[in-house]
Amino acid sequence: MALDIRPHGRVGAEILGVDLARPSAADLAQIRAAFAEYGVVFFRDQTIDEAQHIAFARALGPININRFFTAHPHHPEIALVLKEPDQRDNIGGGWHTDHSYDVEPALGSVLVARELPPQGGATAFASMYAAHDALPDHLRARIEGARAVHSARHVFGSKPGAYEAMRETSRDGRIGNAGAADVLDDVVHPVVIIHPLSGKRALYVNPAFTTAIVGLDPEDSRALLAELYAHALDPRFQETFHWRPGSIALWDNRATWHYAHNDYHGHRREMHRITIEGEPLH
Ligand code: SIN
Repeated sequence: MALDIRPHGRVGAEILGVDLARPSAADLAQIRAAFAEYGVVFFRDQTIDEAQHIAFARALGPININRFFTAHPHHPEIALVLKEPDQRDNIGGGWHTDHSYDVEPALGSVLVARELPPQGGATAFASMYAAHDALPDHLRARIEGARAVHSARHVFGSKPGAYEAMRETSRDGRIGNAGAADVLDDVVHPVVIIHPLSGKRALYVNPAFTTAIVGLDPEDSRALLAELYAHALDPRFQETFHWRPGSIALWDNRATWHYAHNDYHGHRREMHRITIEGEPLH
């Protein structure tokens, strides 16, 4: 049966008429196609347990066991994205795409809402297909054939201070294993990739993990990245997803950025994330 796939404002699509606890092969084929086209797909009113979450993610590709996030106590495949009422910082509270610091960056992530604050806690998404397609000519010319360096060390590593947003989360144990980040080599990816599933071009730098443009001196590199980020964050390329109990998002890390709003202090938010392995980007 054809699923009901409805565009979600400027970014993504909502998929209705599927039960992710038992998706059929035909459902999965339509989900994969929508994922490639829209960059992020959303589901509502789902009731899936942890094993079904893992099975759904596995149907999309091999699971990447997260090296830095605290894992679910019984399911190492599931990374906890958690904020307790007495904590101030959240995880993912800056624009980023997951795992761009890997040689083969993650294909995507499946985020399941487990406990939500009474209000707030939405997630914003930005389309890097749209950002690429709207690049002004002068910026497009400057990144023609360019490559960028990505790193996890300044975010998850032990050197204090570089990435303010992670300070509390590392202190209280939500993020750990800094030693593994300290020894990770930097990786290089094209600034514009050809998306492996859709064949479309996408801008592939992000404010959290991209540290430099190869071959530019540090000041020029910082300035070019700042210009690219200012362009990519045009509200025309963004949409916000408001979570409800039973909501699930499946985003493409090669085609979108995301940003978890941190506007629910004093309340608990628990999300379960599974990240799916990707492939080299060209
Ligand atoms: C993340 O950045 O992976 C988490 C997003 C969210 O909690 O909304």
